[in-house]
Amino acid sequence: MKKLVFATNNPHKLEEVRAILQQKFEVAGLADIGCHKEIPETGTTLEENASIKSHYVVNQYQTDCFADDTGLEVDALDGKPGVYSARYAGENASYEQNVDKLLQQMEGIDKRKARFRTVVSLVMEGKEYLFEGAIEGKIIHERKGSGGFGYDPVFVPDGYTQTFAEMNANMKNSISHRAKAIQKLADFLLHNG
Ligand code: IMP
Repeated sequence: MKKLVFATNNPHKLEEVRAILQQKFEVAGLADIGCHKEIPETGTTLEENASIKSHYVVNQYQTDCFADDTGLEVDALDGKPGVYSARYAGENASYEQNVDKLLQQMEGIDKRKARFRTVVSLVMEGKEYLFEGAIEGKIIHERKGSGGFGYDPVFVPDGYTQTFAEMNANMKNSISHRAKAIQKLADFLLHNG
């Protein structure tokens, strides 16, 4: 089976991506290649951050690799937290603190439309390819469910009544932003890998 490095140390993401690519590719995380560094996300767009992470690994470890960056874009907050989703409530903020801040910022706001957007950067044989996936939905007023991670407990995708945190992993993985971007990556690799 073809091996791929995914530039992440986030166990939730690794699990999700392994579940999506399981039949076709063996996915190693950063820890599996001995990289325990938190690669700084200094870009101002999801594209830039995904690209910074994939190139870092390619340059340091001389291996083809893909990386992702995801943001939650809330219309009523002019697209925030967006590329700063991981540090919305400050550097090293927990998922809990970020969700608290989001709910607080949206108090009294009726317009609750939002989307998760993921950009994947693949660097293969020195060339970079970008893939994008997004899912539209809304931010509810209080947390529901205990699965998933990040903003999952307050995000209900359009056409569903459950939050991502209430869905089982298979369901989230069949419709999520990351699943869509990773599926595009998988299709590309099957034809070009
Ligand atoms: P990252 O930079 O791609 O790790 O994502 C930034 C932040 O977005 C994370 O810290 C999470 O808070 C949030 N996030 C990313 N993916 C998801 C998801 O699938 N569900 C909920 N939140 C997510």
